[in-house]
Amino acid sequence: MKNLILFTTKYGSVEKCGRILAKELDGETEIVNLKTDSIPKLADYDKIILGGSIYLGKTQSAISKFAEENIEALSSKKVGIYVNSGEPSEKKYVQIKNSFPAPIHDKAVAIGLFGDEITWEKCSFMDKLALRLIKKVTASYSNIDEKEISRFAKLMNEA
Ligand SMILES: Cc1cc2nc3c(=O)[nH]c(=O)nc-3n(C[C@H](O)[C@H](O)[C@H](O)COP(=O)(O)O)c2cc1C
Repeated sequence: MKNLILFTTKYGSVEKCGRILAKELDGETEIVNLKTDSIPKLADYDKIILGGSIYLGKTQSAISKFAEENIEALSSKKVGIYVNSGEPSEKKYVQIKNSFPAPIHDKAVAIGLFGDEITWEKCSFMDKLALRLIKKVTASYSNIDEKEISRFAKLMNEA
């Protein structure tokens, strides 16, 4: 069994969650950063997991675009999608739905909301400003939901 976790991240929490997830998946798992690594052939994997983080209501366009461009190849695989997101309300489901093409989202064997994390020192000036104004946050915090990662891993393993 070969799994591929393909992710985009701005400050690292999607990658961190991908690495926690990889330890819980059965079989061999490769983790690939969509923006900085070379993309392997999807045909070589049995299960593919797409991960991104939500900014202003949507995930990075690179991962949405990748999903859009590979709908056909992804449709023949067991696909899981997860996001890191700070939204506590029901809106979090809308954000993930709006971030991936419907055929991928609706057919996903697992959908994960892994929580959020901010490393204050890594944030850009503009992101710090947005965090201060919108979330009243001025320091690092971590709300990564490890139970949710385990639930997601179980669904992927059983698929
Ligand atoms: C400027 C800014 C805007 C954000 N906007 C949203 C948002 O619209 N919805 C949401 O659920 N989370 C939002 N978040 C929370 C991020 O999704 C969360 O911090 C995530 O862990 C970042 O992952 P990354 O470091 O892998 O990019 C925002 C965070 C920042 C810094």
